Amino acid sequence: MSLLNIQDLKVSFTTPEGEVNAVNGLNLSLNEGETLAVVGESGSGKSQTAFATMGLLAKNGRATGTINFDGQNLLGMSTKALNKVRSQQIGMIFQDPMTSLNPYLRISEQMAEVLTLHKGMSKRDAINESVKMLDAVRIPDARNRITNYPHEFSGGMRQRIMIAMSLLCRPRLLIADEPTTALDVTVQAQIMQLLGDIRREFGTAIILITHDLGVVAGFCDRTLVLYGGQVMEEGQTETVFANPTHPYTLGLLQAVPRLDREELELATIAGEPPDMSRLPAGCPFSPRCDIAMHRCATLRPTLETLEAGHRRACHKPIAEVV
Ligand SMILES: Nc1ncnc2c1ncn2[C@@H]1O[C@H](COP(=O)(O)OP(=O)(O)OP(=O)(O)O)[C@@H](O)[C@H]1O
Ligand SMILES: [Mg+2]
Repeated sequence: MSLLNIQDLKVSFTTPEGEVNAVNGLNLSLNEGETLAVVGESGSGKSQTAFATMGLLAKNGRATGTINFDGQNLLGMSTKALNKVRSQQIGMIFQDPMTSLNPYLRISEQMAEVLTLHKGMSKRDAINESVKMLDAVRIPDARNRITNYPHEFSGGMRQRIMIAMSLLCRPRLLIADEPTTALDVTVQAQIMQLLGDIRREFGTAIILITHDLGVVAGFCDRTLVLYGGQVMEEGQTETVFANPTHPYTLGLLQAVPRLDREELELATIAGEPPDMSRLPAGCPFSPRCDIAMHRCATLRPTLETLEAGHRRACHKPIAEVV
């Protein structure tokens, strides 16, 4: 049985300008210990999928469908039951650690509270456990540094602290939403390495949300490509990278810098991401797709299975795409 199974997830927001349909019938499944990348341009619904899973949608948002975690539907669960699951079994790390760390509290207080509150530990045990976790994310001199305030650490260190905090309760699932976007390239690589170590050490399943395909290769078992809040293509990462079958995936891959090519300018996908309050009836990518047919604008393609675990939603025959 999969650890996380999302079926027909729809997320919409009520705004003065009308309904914004951020996620439109998304299916996703993740096994225990597996690593899944969710990629797509800005606004494709990556974060809202994560927020819906964590029960963290903004007040004007609603989610329908099912989000089964370990066999329980998180949508429609009481707040109390949901709090228990998300505090103990699902961890989340965000792009900007400063927004999730309280600037006025020492790291020791912020970390220990998680354990005293959710695990009923004594303050002293909680501090010891927190120091252990800071060691695990390679904060040097953790025993002393734990009494520092967030601003006394560099951006990369703060992201490590956030990761340590999200792991305190040993979650079975970690959702990392652009965990390295705000960091410079060397620190990015260190954080990715750390996430890899954590997966090995704790067996944590990881959903990595990113628009940087360079980060995905070599880290994630499977990749899910989102556009307009819908899955365009999904498969083993190697398959999606080596044999992409969707025009949007191809476009994304051509926009990744590669050492073995010497183009001065990276290819970008022409056109703008869609307005989520006015999605076309058909494929959301059709207005930007070079090879779109009449049908693409009017009929939404279903997600068809090509071979084990490789799926695509496109009306065009594969031979005409690649
Ligand atoms: N509270 C809200 N009210 C209205 N629209 C919203 C709200 N929150 C998000 N949206 C819209 O939902 C859509 C999907 O947003 P989401 O945050 O999931 O994008 P994303 O794929 O994570 O993009 P990025 O890479 O920029 O983080 C966007 O069009 C966004 O403007
Ligand atoms: Mg986002």
